[in-house]
Amino acid sequence: MIKVIKDKCVKCLKCVKVCPFTALGVEDGYPADRGKMCIECMHCAAACPEGALTWEGEPAALEAQQVLPLSADFADQLEAHVLQRRSYRHFKDTPVDREVLQHVLELADWAPSAKNQHPHGWIVIDTKETIDKMMMAIVDYSKESGVSPEIVRELESENNNVVMGESRTLILCHADSKAINAPADSAIAMTTVELLLQAKGIGTCWAGYLTRMCNAVPALGELLPPLPENHAYYGAFMVGYPEREDYVTVPARLKKAEIKWV
Ligand SMILES: Cc1cc2nc3c(=O)[nH]c(=O)nc-3n(C[C@H](O)[C@H](O)[C@H](O)COP(=O)(O)O)c2cc1C
Repeated sequence: MIKVIKDKCVKCLKCVKVCPFTALGVEDGYPADRGKMCIECMHCAAACPEGALTWEGEPAALEAQQVLPLSADFADQLEAHVLQRRSYRHFKDTPVDREVLQHVLELADWAPSAKNQHPHGWIVIDTKETIDKMMMAIVDYSKESGVSPEIVRELESENNNVVMGESRTLILCHADSKAINAPADSAIAMTTVELLLQAKGIGTCWAGYLTRMCNAVPALGELLPPLPENHAYYGAFMVGYPEREDYVTVPARLKKAEIKWV
């Protein structure tokens, strides 16, 4: 429950104005929890200039010093980053630093999600033996079921792994299928992770085949930790330090979204 520290509160009521579900009202000039639905977004605390709001007794916002101010050319830099993000499939034979991954996956907790549910979780695989076993299980399944025969064809005739590239690290994103919008929430969290990893020089590629296979191949379930109840896989990344893949300019986009103004 949100509570106000009255000694700190200056009664500006900025917190009340930003609440998306009018969960905060006013009592004696102070903000007060109305006992209505609260989606725990903590916008109230983010708008409070005095750090006067707590959630279950803990500060409900980060300290201002924990957040770096953005540089003046940030928008230009971000635009350049969006254009230069690429899908990388060729990687060095070393797993990605776990501390860096942990930090980035934690940052994705600040991505938006429907009703602030944050229904997703991550599984990071950086054990070569497990990755190899996963690929073997996928190949066996593809051969037995006839699903996605191009996986086996590419692998056996071209030595091209369209499922995992040359990954020594894989990230799987799972989410609660009963959440309001698990596919969108997962995709937004993953996009946040991708942009952050690539900003740090770590290559990523969405792995749609791998996602589908994780949901379909029983043998993969035996290699991976069990998912929480009602969870399914909604996305996966090939991840690694890029090798033999150096983009010097931005590819043309042949398919562009139509934009209509009304
Ligand atoms: C949902 C999704 C699934 C994808 N699945 C695969 C995949 O299984 N294998 C692969 O090599 N690339 C996969 N890709 C990467 C796309 O091929 C790539 O994003 C596209 O060709 C554009 O290239 P760019 O990301 O470098 O701009 C996937 C991308 C998305 C968004």
